[in-house]
Amino acid sequence: MPTSAGSAAPPVLVAGGTGFVGGIIARSLVADGRTVIVPARSADRLSALLAACADFSGRLVPLEVSGSHPHFQAAERLAADGRRPGAVVAALGGWSKTGALIDLPGEQWERALRDHLTSHLEAMQAYVPLLGGSVDPTYITLNGAAASEAMAGSGAISVTGAAQHMLTSVMRAEAIGATVRFHELSLTAAVAGDDRNLDPTSQITPSQITLAIDRLIGNPLAEAFGALYAERR
Ligand SMILES: NC(=O)c1ccc[n+]([C@@H]2O[C@H](COP(=O)([O-])OP(=O)(O)OC[C@H]3O[C@@H](n4cnc5c(N)ncnc54)[C@H](OP(=O)(O)O)[C@@H]3O)[C@@H](O)[C@H]2O)c1
Repeated sequence: MPTSAGSAAPPVLVAGGTGFVGGIIARSLVADGRTVIVPARSADRLSALLAACADFSGRLVPLEVSGSHPHFQAAERLAADGRRPGAVVAALGGWSKTGALIDLPGEQWERALRDHLTSHLEAMQAYVPLLGGSVDPTYITLNGAAASEAMAGSGAISVTGAAQHMLTSVMRAEAIGATVRFHELSLTAAVAGDDRNLDPTSQITPSQITLAIDRLIGNPLAEAFGALYAERR
């Protein structure tokens, strides 16, 4: 049953909604009565998300996109359909262990830059103009501990995470930051249920994430940068 925001609230676009963290956020918002737009490149992952939201039919709006600039394609289609989100949550990137940075092959570095950094800039460039008609335009990015802690063996994630943090800071400092609320929510530990996590000694729970996102979307006075910490077991 919808609890707080309800279906009258403007849609939320979840970029990366087919991913692990984005999926948690998309499913929770839909269950809470929000319409949620999820642009994604994988038809299979979109179908899985739709199936998980089957009880809330119609509120999950899947948008299959392709090519090397998927966010721009998604934004063009949304603008053409007159669909405008009131808030965007970007849970893009993920995690990988690639070995020592000194040995990282050029193509892996390029892929990390594209998936973990350029995809965030392009998502901002594509979706922020759609927030124009919103009462409280809000843009939230998810980040991880590697942004502020040098992760040996996952150096590209640390470098791009630090740059992603600065991306949000620059957006806040530039003119657009006066009209759109940019926020970053940093997850400083692995999220419970992610089977890619090989050492789950302490974890962040999905409900910590969804509560934090609800608070950011609903609070014009929310802090720019927030962090979630593991609940000890
Ligand atoms: N999972 C955790 O335990 C954990 C812990 C701490 C922090 N975080 C943070 O949470 C955020 C999301 O992580 P995650 O684990 O949910 O990642 P994930 O499961 O790997 O999902 C990443 C999402 O990003 C999309 N994506 C990747 N590259 C893209 C590109 N170039 N263009 C468009 N979309 C792209 C993927 O779409 P496709 O399906 O099309 O590839 C996918 O939907 C990251 O900032 C991460 O640092 C996660």
